[in-house]
Amino acid sequence: MHSLGILLSGRGSNFVAIADSIDAGRIPDARISIVISNRAEAPGIAIARERGLNALVIPSKGRPREEHDHEVVAALKQNQVDLICLAGYMRLLSPWFVRQFPRKILNIHPSLLPAFPGLEAQEQAFAYGVKVSGCTVHFVDEELDHGPIIVQSAVPVLDGDSEHTLTARILEQEHIAYTEAIKVVLEGEFVITGRRLVGNT
Ligand code: GRF
Repeated sequence: MHSLGILLSGRGSNFVAIADSIDAGRIPDARISIVISNRAEAPGIAIARERGLNALVIPSKGRPREEHDHEVVAALKQNQVDLICLAGYMRLLSPWFVRQFPRKILNIHPSLLPAFPGLEAQEQAFAYGVKVSGCTVHFVDEELDHGPIIVQSAVPVLDGDSEHTLTARILEQEHIAYTEAIKVVLEGEFVITGRRLVGNT
């Protein structure tokens, strides 16, 4: 049984999509062992509790990154997670954190990387005037929004779009893409050469 750890800071819709996929058997042989939020008021952590999951708040505000990261890593290790999914976790992981779980941390970003890394990616893409955007699930490395890409999903930008409608359509794809990426990683039937992940079946 694969043991997943989820890190979030806010709404938690990607976390809910992952939890629903596990419950529906779309991600077989997996369970969420712990959900950690760095913000007590994150709606996602309340949902985790409602669902009876192991939910933990480790506040980050005003604390040195390394100290906070040590606490989060300790909780993840205690729960013996073998995959960590960042789901709207608004903290940069320290290099030390990343090295504790090599190729075991995934992130979702609401653009087609390497375009528009960082905050408000959908707004950046919309303002730039791209005709296609989307989302990316990637391994986390020591650079922001940077590691090898697992799944990307393209979303057209329509003439009638606003930042909000585009963001909403990207989010729908995020929920599908994250499940797909977790399956790919848990099945383990791939090789990574340089930055390129390809199936080996
Ligand atoms: C998503 O758009 C995700 O791509 C980005 O932060 C947002 C989190 O949304 N990293 P939610 O908390 O999963 O609803």
